Amino acid sequence: MLRLYITNSSIQIRENTMNNIADTSRRLAILRERRTVRAFTDRPVPQDILLELIEYARLAPSAGNRQAWRFIIVNDSQLIKKVVDAGGSETIGKSPSGILVLYEDYALTPDYHDNYQTAAACIQNLLLAAQAYDLGACWISILPPKAILRRLFKIPWHYSPIAYVAVGYPVNVKIRDIPRNNLIEDVVSENIFPMQGLGPGPSRTATYQKRLGVFIYRKLPILVRKKLKNMVKGKT
Ligand SMILES: Cc1cc2nc3c(=O)[nH]c(=O)nc-3n(C[C@H](O)[C@H](O)[C@H](O)COP(=O)(O)O)c2cc1C
Repeated sequence: MLRLYITNSSIQIRENTMNNIADTSRRLAILRERRTVRAFTDRPVPQDILLELIEYARLAPSAGNRQAWRFIIVNDSQLIKKVVDAGGSETIGKSPSGILVLYEDYALTPDYHDNYQTAAACIQNLLLAAQAYDLGACWISILPPKAILRRLFKIPWHYSPIAYVAVGYPVNVKIRDIPRNNLIEDVVSENIFPMQGLGPGPSRTATYQKRLGVFIYRKLPILVRKKLKNMVKGKT
């Protein structure tokens, strides 16, 4: 098993480096403290702050430096309701505003979906910028079928909706600190895939069943999905 450790010689702890460490830790606080927020007050987020978040999203790296992202600020409650009614996550309806992130609909490296990777990078920037503004945010991929989003937001054929970021002022409840499932040594290795933390792994059949299950579930009408969800939650 890979052992991760910091030796005295590797980081040469001296007084001045202690200051650097404290400074680094302070700068990394935003990454440690970011957590998904799903409950918001009704207070709308001013447009200039949303634009500011998008400014930071635009600073994300982009494959081939294409910067082919587009952002739709969503603050029309009727439109938000339509997105939820058409199958979008209920969290979308809980925030007074959100940002729909789109990316030009082709990849330079189709095997690696660099268009989605780039969109993900800018979405993470949005979340961190929201955190810096003491806003709450939720990255949402439970969305209506793309065709419906295209119609609702008049999205042209050469752009694809990627995700919605619900943004708002968090209600004053303790934010769930979702623990990470694995220790670092379970998920990292040197030069070869990290097997240590995986145990025997799922069977191929189980994985294919999961994929098929998700595929079928996503094809079901929204009402049937809602019923199933309530049944799982124990409601009738
Ligand atoms: C690609 C992606 C899609 C997500 N989609 C949803 C979603 O549709 N609804 C939701 O409530 N949270 C969604 N999340 C948020 C995750 O549930 C959340 O990040 C995870 O539970 C860990 O919690 P944390 O962000 O507080 O650390 C998504 C996150 C990512 C990265």
